[in-house]
Amino acid sequence: PQKRPWRIAVIPGDGIGQEVVPQGLRVIEAAATRFDIALQIEHFDFASCDYYLRHGSMLPEDWKEQLDGFDAIFFGAVGWPEKVPDHISLWGSLLQFRREFDQYVNLRPARLMPGLRSPLAGLQPGDIDLLIVRENTEGEYSNAGGRLFAGTPREMAMQETVMTRVGVDRVLHDAFNQAARRPRKLLTSATKSNGISITMPYWDERVRAVAAEHPQVRWNQFHIDALCARLVQRPQEFDVIVGSNLFGDILSDLAPALCGTLGIAPSANLNPERLHPSLFEPVHGSAPDIAGRGLANPIGQIWSAALMFDFLGHPKAHDAIVQAIEGVLDPRSGAPRTPDLGGSASTQDMGRAVAQAVIAAN
Ligand code: NAI
Ligand code: MG
Repeated sequence: PQKRPWRIAVIPGDGIGQEVVPQGLRVIEAAATRFDIALQIEHFDFASCDYYLRHGSMLPEDWKEQLDGFDAIFFGAVGWPEKVPDHISLWGSLLQFRREFDQYVNLRPARLMPGLRSPLAGLQPGDIDLLIVRENTEGEYSNAGGRLFAGTPREMAMQETVMTRVGVDRVLHDAFNQAARRPRKLLTSATKSNGISITMPYWDERVRAVAAEHPQVRWNQFHIDALCARLVQRPQEFDVIVGSNLFGDILSDLAPALCGTLGIAPSANLNPERLHPSLFEPVHGSAPDIAGRGLANPIGQIWSAALMFDFLGHPKAHDAIVQAIEGVLDPRSGAPRTPDLGGSASTQDMGRAVAQAVIAAN
């Protein structure tokens, strides 16, 4: 039984974030009712470009104190390049959360669901069922490096990859744990130790060491280039894939792309020790091209809510939401579909349909 209500901070951000977050909340409330989960929800208007235009910064000075006691942040999307340059809006908000709250595991599930058209020919629903686990704090995305001799013919730039034992081992343990919870219990490590001759052999070495502590999980490894090719040719062969920050970034766009639309892809940024809040958001951005017209597909946001329940220890709520999504996406259900799925329904219609299916779940 739950000892206290989970504290959820809701931050819609910009553009379609304002439209899909309310639908995510609708489903969160449906699942909380259906599965008797106590939640305490609070709303915040910062981390948006309108907040920036009013206050001159994306976040209030005490944002960390304001958010640190929450269990989860339910986030929409940030960015509106016509108002605020992207490097300011993203670095000034989302990337602060990921870094300051040490959300070192980035999870992105990708599943070919009924009613979605994969760009790959001949696949059936269920043929793609992947979980990408990306290291989210170090690796290739370090700011160790610099430029020398700028503006001269000798101009040079270099940037170092940083892999620490703590940083590598903790994401590998989490990836093995994720694999252990899934039926196939298979983990693939993305590497490039044939070309990147110092950090990637180190990564491989840590994979072997950490694997020894998870004997219930089978594992293998592929070089990132061959892995990308193989994912296009035989996506059925893969289950959980773990990669460094850069490789995980690439794989976590490739995997949802193989499943059809960006509009349904969810993600979780986890601090597994729960010292800080974890953040749940769709993969897509604020989509200024369609914002404000009720055209956005809310499934990426809603699936992110499912990931949140799973992290909070409510796998039944997770499964019910994912099943409701699958049911609504299935064209045979006759449920409303947004234009990106070939329908003409609104964001709200689709959110309502998923919430009703969650309420009716057994
Ligand atoms: P985007 O993901 O916002 O949009 C790319 C394309 O996909 C657009 O044509 C859009 O209409 C479509 N799309 C996205 N989500 C959809 C949905 N739920 N339903 C139907 N169609 C959808 O990426 P874009 O245009 O490159 O970036 C727009 C803004 O979002 C920028 O400011 C960017 O920095 C920001 N961004 C923020 C992210 C975040 O908050 N995590 C992630 C990616 C981009
Ligand atoms: Mg990316």
